[in-house]
Amino acid sequence: MISDTMRDALNEQIAMEGYASFYYLSMASWSDNEGLEGCAQYFQRQSAEEHSHMLRIFDYLSEVDSKAIVPAIAQPPADFDNIQEVFQKTYAHEQKVTESINKLVELAHQENDFTTRNFLDWYVAEQREEEALVRTILDKIRLIGNGPMSLYYIDKEIEAVNAAELKAAASEAA
Ligand code: FEO
Repeated sequence: MISDTMRDALNEQIAMEGYASFYYLSMASWSDNEGLEGCAQYFQRQSAEEHSHMLRIFDYLSEVDSKAIVPAIAQPPADFDNIQEVFQKTYAHEQKVTESINKLVELAHQENDFTTRNFLDWYVAEQREEEALVRTILDKIRLIGNGPMSLYYIDKEIEAVNAAELKAAASEAA
């Protein structure tokens, strides 16, 4: 059994992962509308991944005989200036999630809640990977350039990144 404070904090994290899922779905829609199919696929997959992050906490709360709360999710922004801005916002959001996970780890330490501390290790590693991935994409966009002539090449790069992520997830699942 975990404390009520920890339960509430994990439920806030459920809400944050749920918002991330909707945020990336909105980015997928924007990308699709701009004709950026590779980016749309990337954000669709990312949205599904965030949904699975949310469910992982949901299941954990059930496992420790606590209670998960299904959150209300605010409508995310629907419009963006350009694809570079979309990935900059993705990066900023992932940094916020990392900060939130770190606070959960701190709380688990304060409470000597080693079960939750152990559960959170997965998220600590995941955040490191996610931030690194988005930084790589931002570097690629900087190298290619963000003008209208570059969009085709940016989209192809993101399509390749998405294919690599799908392949990695498939081999992890096998
Ligand atoms: Fe689940 Fe990307 O934070």
